[in-house]
This record gives sequence, C-alpha cells and structure tokens, in this order.
Amino acid sequence: MNLSAETLEKIETTIPKYPEKRSAVMPLLHFVQSEQKYISNEAIEWIAEKLEIEPINVLEVVTFFPYYRQEKLGTVHVRVCRTLSCALMGAYKLGDELEKALDCKMGHTKEDGSVTLEYGECLAACGTGPVVLVDEDLYEKLNQTEAVGPMLEEIKKRAQAGAATE
Ligand code: FES
Repeated sequence: MNLSAETLEKIETTIPKYPEKRSAVMPLLHFVQSEQKYISNEAIEWIAEKLEIEPINVLEVVTFFPYYRQEKLGTVHVRVCRTLSCALMGAYKLGDELEKALDCKMGHTKEDGSVTLEYGECLAACGTGPVVLVDEDLYEKLNQTEAVGPMLEEIKKRAQAGAATE
C-alpha cells in the first residue's frame, strides 16, 4: 500500500508497543486514515496482514467506530452539529435542507468527490446553534434563512475551486 515513509515508521514503532500485535489495530487505522483520509478495502487488508489477523477483524473495528470513514473525504467537509442544543434549535431540519441544497446524502461524499456531508457532535458553540463546520470554519445561527445562503455559496465556491485544481 502506498503510505509515506513517516506513516510507515509510526506503524513500525507502534506495533511492538503492544503485547499482542492485534491490539495495535486502532492506532494503525488512525495513522492510515490521517494520511489517506479514509480507510479503503486495500488498507483493511494491508493492516490485517501486518497484524496477522483476518480482514474481517479490522473491518469490525472500522464499522463499529463512526470516527473511521470508508468513503474518501470530499473536497469540502461539511459537519452539522446535532448535539442537544443544536438539535433543539433545528439541526436535523438544517441537515435535511443541506442534503437537498448540496444534492448530497447525509453521512456520505458526493459521487464527484466535491462535498462530504455529515452530522457531528458538539462544536462548543452551543449558544449560537444550530452550527455547521465547513472544513475548519464555523457558521452559526443557521436557523435564520439569511445565514444559510452565504454558507452554501462558500461551500459551492470551495467545491468548484477544488475541482479546478484536480
Ligand atoms: S450542541 Fe452544537 S455546538 Fe454544542
């Protein structure tokens, strides 16, 4: 598998820290996802071989923890906070609106790879919810229609800029 020398070194130094190789599955997944932005089937098989376990044992971990993603992250990463305050202030309605406006299913990446839309947990802006994180930029008070438009414009602009550089 194609990994940087730095990631490979981290993997090689991490495995011996565990009494049993198989216990290193989570850090290995973390290293691979940090570099490749998702966990591919190839990565699952590669990690399984490295740790002398079956691919299904790695897949079980990947599918159990929402942190691990099996789809490549889109050019623009959109996370809608759905923790209590934001949920009470309309996060799920906002999520439905964004699905339509971006033509992207919640929890997925668009087929063209331009946008990933997901629910996420508290972003520490509970008083100004519902909030959305677009890459690293926070958008607040999104139950006000006039606040959603500029955010959508920015998402589309970034998606187009990403497509233009590919
Ligand atoms: S609940 Fe959404 S930011 Fe805290």
